[in-house]
Amino acid sequence: MFNIDIFHIYGIILSYYSERVKFMSEMEFIIDNIGNLPAVINTDEKQKNEFAINFMKFMQLTHLYDSAIKVVRTYLDILAEEFNVKFSRNPIHNIESRLKSAESIIGKLQKKNLPVTPEAASKNLLDIAGIRVTCYYISDIYYIVNILSRRDDFTIIKQKDYIRNPKPSGYRSYHLIINVPVYLSSKKYYAPVEIQIRTIAMDFWASLEHQLKYKTTAKLSPEISQELKECADRIAETDVQMQKIFLEINDLE
Ligand code: GTP
Ligand code: MG
Repeated sequence: MFNIDIFHIYGIILSYYSERVKFMSEMEFIIDNIGNLPAVINTDEKQKNEFAINFMKFMQLTHLYDSAIKVVRTYLDILAEEFNVKFSRNPIHNIESRLKSAESIIGKLQKKNLPVTPEAASKNLLDIAGIRVTCYYISDIYYIVNILSRRDDFTIIKQKDYIRNPKPSGYRSYHLIINVPVYLSSKKYYAPVEIQIRTIAMDFWASLEHQLKYKTTAKLSPEISQELKECADRIAETDVQMQKIFLEINDLE
């Protein structure tokens, strides 16, 4: 195992290079020169090699998860286009995606007391690849969940309906973790992708609450948490009312 100092540097190097290194030759250059970094220079040959191997595995992992995001995003883009072509309305308002940074991956592994290795990351962290789909109405969410569930090459590993069962904070969204096939040159690999599906109203609350939580270093007081929960519940009522209006106008009730 490496010491903490090396991992810190490791995270920074990974975060920096996972964005930029696209060719094996560049990667080889970095690996060859890793031994010259101040944090690595005093370690023995075995540790340097282990570091280089883990670095390469992390790069491959990042590539796999990034590709899995692309597979799901492309599918959602195709669906959105289909809705525009065939129907009068597209239930998808917005799609965002993110790959968890190497520093967050390392931080989460350490928090869970797990070894900081690519193997532990792929085995234990299911939110390295993340996609957020924002819909207009609550019924749109279930419609999208249904479409994603019907794809026979997507396996649902986990699903949580935080709309029917909101979190104590008041958070609402539908969470799916799907195992997504990625065809690389040698064979088919799978990577889990966390998909959060929510309405614009749910996204409004979650974004502000997230910002408020992370703006203050101290934990939110019970009074503030209660107030935020009340906001979430009021927003949820409005969401239901907007859904009702939509159904009424479209004679769908
Ligand atoms: P994590 O270790 O945080 O991924 O938790 P988990 O594996 O138990 O997953 P969970 O179903 O709690 O949802 C994880 C993700 O949902 C978080 O990373 C957030 O993006 C979102 N989320 C969950 N709870 C809240 C909340 O109370 N407020 C906000 N703003 N987002 C939340
Ligand atoms: Mg998470």
